[in-house]
Amino acid sequence: MRIGLISKDIELSTTSRFIAAGERRGHEMVPLRLLDGAVILGGAAAPRPALLLDGVELPPLDALIPRLGAYLPSLALSLGRCLIAAGATPLNDLDGMAVAQDKLRTAERLVAAGLPTPRTIFAKDLDHLDRAVAAVGGAPVVIKPTSGAQGRGVMLAETTATAVAILESLIVTGRDHLVQEFIATARGEDRRLLVVGDRVVAAIRRRARAGEFRPNLHRGGAAEPIVPSAEEREVALAATRAVGLRFAGVDLLAGPEGPVVVEVNGSPGLEGIEGATGLDLAGEAIVLLEELHARARSRGEDGADGR
Ligand SMILES: Nc1ncnc2c1ncn2[C@@H]1O[C@H](COP(=O)(O)OP(=O)(O)O)[C@@H](O)[C@H]1O
Ligand SMILES: [Mg+2]
Repeated sequence: MRIGLISKDIELSTTSRFIAAGERRGHEMVPLRLLDGAVILGGAAAPRPALLLDGVELPPLDALIPRLGAYLPSLALSLGRCLIAAGATPLNDLDGMAVAQDKLRTAERLVAAGLPTPRTIFAKDLDHLDRAVAAVGGAPVVIKPTSGAQGRGVMLAETTATAVAILESLIVTGRDHLVQEFIATARGEDRRLLVVGDRVVAAIRRRARAGEFRPNLHRGGAAEPIVPSAEEREVALAATRAVGLRFAGVDLLAGPEGPVVVEVNGSPGLEGIEGATGLDLAGEAIVLLEELHARARSRGEDGADGR
């Protein structure tokens, strides 16, 4: 297959792992650096969407690995939609990617599916911020960007006064943040389960370094491989489905009554989890993509819509 891979930079370690895994399995990997690609819509000469990469029109792709980072997520989505419209089979549906990119929309889906997630509120009313803090159970509370990654900007406010001051400052500078119940029982630890299709293919426990409550590896956390419980697997699979993804990293916290879903990441980094488990997880994703493409093609041959 010719597989496109949307990424900010082909030097990124997860991107290079996908490229190596795809090439090992005999595929042509086409990295699509966001700034090299331009989506061209409309015009008499170009009535269909076309993609120019470095000024040259791209040949059709069989499949697509969309990845959204903090960098130009809307351009990545737009590019992805054009490529899918032109026939590429995506590893993850872009609607699901857009939901996962937004922690408020993710919470909405998790709650609607009856899955455990911290009580969450979107606070914008400067006059009633103390009410927002009380609504999620009172201080301490977690304040986090609606869309963010790697633990950046995820804060623990120990008192209502601190939480209100942080929120005031974020609101007046125009940033969207969520206020969340702090799951104290997690004690600076979480679990990252990697879901590929209908399986949990790898899991690690991450532990925050001293003086830090965020165990993200980018924040200095340490990882070790674990065998997740049946309940953790079920919750991770259900959360992935609820958000509308097939390939995801699900972050679970140990709540007082069992696992709590804190994030469903549609563009999970693979370096840390492959390093800790020794597994070829990019390869697992490519195998799933091969299956999805074969299924789409056989549906196409049956006269269905091809996807
Ligand atoms: N409500 C919470 N209670 C306790 N710990 C939390 C909470 N929210 C986040 N954390 C910790 O911070 C980490 C980063 O938060 P997360 O929501 O996953 O943001 P990011 O997308 O930046 O990784 C989580 O993996 C978790 O360990
Ligand atoms: Mg996370």
